[in-house]
Amino acid sequence: MDLQFSRHRRLRSSANMRALVRENHLRVDDFIYPLFIIEGENIRKEVSSMPGVFQVSMDNLQAEMEDVVAHGIKSVLLFGIPAEKDECGTQAFHDHGIVQVATRFIKEKFPEILVVADTCLCEYTSHGHCGMVEGDKILNDESLDLLVKSAISQAKAGADIIAPSNMMDGFVAAIRAGLDEAGFTEIPIMSYAVKYASSFYGPFREAAEGAPQFGDRKTYQMDPANRIEAFREAESDVIEGADFLIVKPGLPYLDIIRDVKNNFNLPVVAYNVSGEYSMIKAAALNGWVDEKKTVLEALVGFKRAGADLIITYHAKDAARWLKEDE
Ligand code: PBG
Repeated sequence: MDLQFSRHRRLRSSANMRALVRENHLRVDDFIYPLFIIEGENIRKEVSSMPGVFQVSMDNLQAEMEDVVAHGIKSVLLFGIPAEKDECGTQAFHDHGIVQVATRFIKEKFPEILVVADTCLCEYTSHGHCGMVEGDKILNDESLDLLVKSAISQAKAGADIIAPSNMMDGFVAAIRAGLDEAGFTEIPIMSYAVKYASSFYGPFREAAEGAPQFGDRKTYQMDPANRIEAFREAESDVIEGADFLIVKPGLPYLDIIRDVKNNFNLPVVAYNVSGEYSMIKAAALNGWVDEKKTVLEALVGFKRAGADLIITYHAKDAARWLKEDE
């Protein structure tokens, strides 16, 4: 028999051979770790749908940050849970808002850590929407002013990167102009450029206490069935001055990560969202999957898809496992 075929297995013959030809790698520098800072005292409350993820009050932030640093993580993404909410989300842009206070604290105590501030209104508004509301409408242009105020107050508090997640049209242009005018020309914008209206945000809404009180987010976040629309969203953010492009959620949208990577020349950030975390966590707690192997496989999948950075609740675990395997 004269068979013609390729011997792919030659390059898989041993661990060292596989390491030699490995195309993608995870590094702790790739990770951005989300933190939920809650107003109040002596709080370190586990989010029931996200085992291992906690809401922490300011008096527990020092310990939390020491743990983050001990894991070698260099960037955190801050979400705030205010004690009071109102119609226009005042606590989002207040100088003493919880994210502003936490940012000042981190930059004072851990100056080398990069603070990424999520800029949105939903955790701060009584109606839980990401913009101003009139009747059952989410107003676009009227929301921009508040988002600009939030971004400026976060930059004033010392945030290194502004990450607007609200999906109003023009938010990057408005925030860039506002930051520049306030003297923050050096502060980059990590835009949630391609953000889908996803059920995978479910556990986050418990963690951040920001579920919409009526309706849904489908008039501002994208339809999960759409791909070409992602090009329009990314393109307009690039034109408006974004410095990073986030694709969110992550795992069900690896094709979109690849599209954004291939078509734009900015760092691409995958947001491995709450529901993706909870699914693996729940299965692992049941003994149905091996948590370490499953998480590392999912995370390297983001790199293979084209993500440069990954926002993930698994960051601490993954950092520990990567060190273990060194
Ligand atoms: C706020 C915001 C959300 C997430 C990040 N920023 C929720 C939403 O848009 O409903 C989701 C993050 C996650 O699920 O991990 N706009």
